[in-house]
Amino acid sequence: MSIWSFPTKIVFGAGEIQRLGQEVAALGLKRVLVVADAGVEKNGLLRAPLASLGESGLESSVFTGVDGNPTEQNIEDGAKAYAQHRAECVVAVGGGSPMDAAKLIALRAVCMLPFEQLDDSIDGGAHVPPNVPPVFTIPTTAGTGSEVGRSGVLTVRSTGRKTVIFSPRLLARVAILDPELTVSMPRGVTAATGFDALTHCVEAYLSTGDHPLADAIALGGIELVQQFLLRACENPTDLEARGGMMKAAMMGAIAFQKGLGACHSLAHPLSSEHGLHHGLANALCLPAVIAFNSSAVPDRVQRVAALLGDSDAVKAVSGLRARVGINAGLAGSGIGEEHLPLLARKALEDACHRSNPRPCTEQDLLELYRASL
Ligand SMILES: NC(=O)c1ccc[n+]([C@@H]2O[C@H](COP(=O)([O-])OP(=O)(O)OC[C@H]3O[C@@H](n4cnc5c(N)ncnc54)[C@H](O)[C@@H]3O)[C@@H](O)[C@H]2O)c1
Ligand SMILES: [Fe+2]
Repeated sequence: MSIWSFPTKIVFGAGEIQRLGQEVAALGLKRVLVVADAGVEKNGLLRAPLASLGESGLESSVFTGVDGNPTEQNIEDGAKAYAQHRAECVVAVGGGSPMDAAKLIALRAVCMLPFEQLDDSIDGGAHVPPNVPPVFTIPTTAGTGSEVGRSGVLTVRSTGRKTVIFSPRLLARVAILDPELTVSMPRGVTAATGFDALTHCVEAYLSTGDHPLADAIALGGIELVQQFLLRACENPTDLEARGGMMKAAMMGAIAFQKGLGACHSLAHPLSSEHGLHHGLANALCLPAVIAFNSSAVPDRVQRVAALLGDSDAVKAVSGLRARVGINAGLAGSGIGEEHLPLLARKALEDACHRSNPRPCTEQDLLELYRASL
């Protein structure tokens, strides 16, 4: 049996952030907790959403205490802010970090189970109750696709592990994709988040499982990345390119309901142990993972290569990575041989590689890190 669904209402278009208030009010909601981070606030990205909520007569309170890789403490603080404001719903404005935090803050409003028990790697999503308050997502990066995804990722205190909480009940009610909100992204963030989108599409397409819709969407997402990522990096105000990358990010997350792969298992400990940005961590490991998977799914890898305009997928991905300005390997982020054994152990514990087309041992994961140094 397979289950395929694409349930989120997605509003797309430059300037469409002005519809936010209407969308929230349409659900009969009045009190809103807006979740963002310091960078989002500093870049003035809260102005338009707050104005729109105000115009629709909604009562908003803003919580910006979200870290780059959200922590359990961030979620607890956000849940307190939610209760204090007597909020009825959450609006996330920002990249994957505030969007994931927003979903988990909404979850905390109705479920106090420890996150260890909600962990996707033990199918903890089954404990997510049906009455999670409505979440609205306003992405300001183009990468994670968390705006339409069914997971929230946080670093759990007791294990120090980046942990995925996965349930369709965490899906946003409405996502508003306004390319104007992404033009302030610096080049490095554009490149790294774009590589997260590409990695979602590639890993979903290569992953085990039967999901023809996800496969087609993943291929469409790869095509968009090829067309628009470099353009968005080189011309930050090019709204067509920014919009193209927002679509690619959204499609990547829809596609990875099929599954991800070894690259995400390698990336997660790089963030929790060394603080690397998630998209950058993926970008640094993706070529080695594609090379590793080529023998298992050669036709699919070939198809990815063709969409990226090359006969060799590894070369195509490495080439794009260099062109967008990601040049150094893991060593450039301070990772050395001495860090790899612990990272490999943590990567093995991560659930994403279970749907990798070629099974991975701890030794394989270690070699993949080594090849990415
Ligand atoms: N839920 C999922 O399915 C999923 C998938 C992939 C990644 N993630 C998670 O998402 C997080 C990463 O999200 P991200 O890559 O979007 O980065 P992010 O949300 O951490 O943002 C990165 C930085 O960019 C800044 N920023 C955001 N938008 C900006 C803009 N328009 N202009 C200027 N600066 C801006 C932020 O303030 C922050 O400093 C990680 O925690 C990762 O684990 C979740
Ligand atoms: Fe990701």
